[in-house]
Amino acid sequence: MTKAIALTEFGSADVLHATDIELPEPGPGQVRLAVRAAGVNPIDSKIRSGAMQEVFPVTFPYVPGVEAAGVIEAVGPDVTHLAVGTEVFGRVATGAYAEQALASADALLPKPAGLDWAEAASLLVAAETTYRALERLDLHPGETLLIHGAAGGVGSVAVQFAVGRGLKVIGTASEANHARLRSLGAVPVVYGDGLVARVREVAPDGVDAAFDLAGRPQALADSVELTGGTARVITVANAATAKESGVAFTGGGDADRSRPAVAEALELLATGKLRLAVHRTYPLAQAADAQRESEAGHATGKIVLTV
Ligand SMILES: NC(=O)c1ccc[n+]([C@@H]2O[C@H](COP(=O)([O-])OP(=O)(O)OC[C@H]3O[C@@H](n4cnc5c(N)ncnc54)[C@H](OP(=O)(O)O)[C@@H]3O)[C@@H](O)[C@H]2O)c1
Repeated sequence: MTKAIALTEFGSADVLHATDIELPEPGPGQVRLAVRAAGVNPIDSKIRSGAMQEVFPVTFPYVPGVEAAGVIEAVGPDVTHLAVGTEVFGRVATGAYAEQALASADALLPKPAGLDWAEAASLLVAAETTYRALERLDLHPGETLLIHGAAGGVGSVAVQFAVGRGLKVIGTASEANHARLRSLGAVPVVYGDGLVARVREVAPDGVDAAFDLAGRPQALADSVELTGGTARVITVANAATAKESGVAFTGGGDADRSRPAVAEALELLATGKLRLAVHRTYPLAQAADAQRESEAGHATGKIVLTV
């Protein structure tokens, strides 16, 4: 048996409880990790609430968590390129909020030496989501990109990828996060009413594209107005809002871009152009508090569970 955090009904973070689950055995193509850190993503809370049941159905008991970093402790029969003892990070196939989890061997990458466990558990979803969205926007150096929700777990990585690609980046965040956004290379603006005017003030030559991580209908409408159409506006935050606004949505069902995303992240890390922000770590047993903080929606970087 192994320790995990699970839910047996949908609801608030109160439904999360510690439990013992069967120690998962790796099947063909799989490995088992001793989890050292698990990324807490907004999708974890959305699934827990029951809101995602149509698009991402789960069965109970359900262990949340889609990304982790840890040490390989068992390999499936046909896995040859990953050995027991290797330190890795990436997407997991069983819940990451656990002492042990299974993953497809192909979904894991060696943990970069310069990253600690929490940083490694923070990298995959943020980098892959960023890469997938920026690719769809077909950006070119010198263009101006508006990022809504630029201070969060994905947003802070998106800002740095975009700056690294030679873009001028305008990022929305509350005032408290403006100094941090500036340090990442973005021009910060406050979100909410009057955004179009504030953005035009800092981008007199216009905005070429917009990447939304906030999920507010007004932010999408403002993006359409600023870019002059729906063609170069994309959101990852809310598929329904995207549809209503006539802009593109990209989600986990789209082609996975983990490998080029991580390659770009490693290049930026190696040249000092990417700093991974861990907002706060919680012990595994405090997963409910971690999700409550995630749901409050003001993380300055990634929330991580340590195991
Ligand atoms: N579709 C996909 O593939 C995919 C993948 C990953 C994430 N996502 C989604 O992307 C969204 C962001 O994820 P995340 O991990 O970056 O979340 P996060 O770390 O919780 O980020 C929250 C950020 O949103 C900002 N924010 C709050 N209200 C805002 C508003 N009205 N306008 C602009 N920014 C606002 C906050 O900034 P302040 O503190 O300054 O207010 C905070 O920095 C979530 O909805 C998540 O589910 C989708």
